[in-house]
Amino acid sequence: MQTSSAPGKVYLFGEHAVVYGEPAIPCTIERRATVTVEQRSDDRLRVEASDLSLEGFAVEYGGNGSGGKSERSPDIDVPESLLEAATGYIDGAISQAREAARVPEAGFEVSIDSEIPLGAGLGSSAAVVVATIDAASRELGTKLEPRALAERAYQVEYEVQDGQASRADTFCSATGGAVRVEGSECRPIDAPNLPFVIGYDGGTGDTADLVSGVRELREQYSFAADTVGAIGDIVREGERALEAGEIEQVGELMNFDHGLLAALGVSARSLDAMVWAARDAGALGAKLTGAGGGGCIVALDPGEETSQALRYTVDCVETFRAELDAEGARQEDRP
Ligand code: PMV
Repeated sequence: MQTSSAPGKVYLFGEHAVVYGEPAIPCTIERRATVTVEQRSDDRLRVEASDLSLEGFAVEYGGNGSGGKSERSPDIDVPESLLEAATGYIDGAISQAREAARVPEAGFEVSIDSEIPLGAGLGSSAAVVVATIDAASRELGTKLEPRALAERAYQVEYEVQDGQASRADTFCSATGGAVRVEGSECRPIDAPNLPFVIGYDGGTGDTADLVSGVRELREQYSFAADTVGAIGDIVREGERALEAGEIEQVGELMNFDHGLLAALGVSARSLDAMVWAARDAGALGAKLTGAGGGGCIVALDPGEETSQALRYTVDCVETFRAELDAEGARQEDRP
């Protein structure tokens, strides 16, 4: 039996623009997905998730890379779309571990326990995929280096998300800390410890829809294309400010980035309400994180004011502090 965990992330700068080759800077936060795997004597998979949906579910099916939908027999009744998404990521991660360890027939019991809200811009799927590949490949006797782990996790996201995935989430979760992603170039960057405050509206955005909305705007209007380019400029300036430890400027640039994302149509009333509550409370900066449409905002505030203001914001259902987590995927003691 092996257990691994991997962190979620926030985008400090650059979501959406990263899809068009601009750089982005995601940072891992201290909220993890933990995955325990145990090899079985047959080639089937049994996946148990306590937090992938509010109710939790368990599902057992013929694995062996086929994913064989018809063989799936959920223990409990959950929507097919949720099962499809969750088992798609797990199937892909298990296939990658089998391939890495060259044990194509391996079956597993997989148990997932995540502290990261689903589909809310905090990289929950990447964290689950990274932790699953890490644990399952170790269970089969192969230890993957963080970059190899990141690449395999990216392949899974790319397939499950029909090609609409950048390397940002998976690289960040596998390696930890603040990273810079530009196309296939990914590297860690120096960043001071950032006082993140997260606000969550309880909802999700549809990443594929939001990405295609930006693509259409960009094709229709040259000023939308310029807006995407301007986000790239913010990221470059933000990288410099981060490396110089100029946190106030980092905050100012986050505000700028949020404004441009809103101009591209990917914010939401609830996200704007949380961003403004944070700013009014004196946060150094605040912006949506991830695809947008709903989900989370990230603010910078070393004090308690932003958390308190978010707690009183109607649109915010949960708020928590999260330090920058310098560690990526890691082995955990057995539960
Ligand atoms: O919402 P998330 O965490 O899946 O982030 C999506 C970020 C996008 O830039 C919109 C898409 C991508 O794959 O980079």
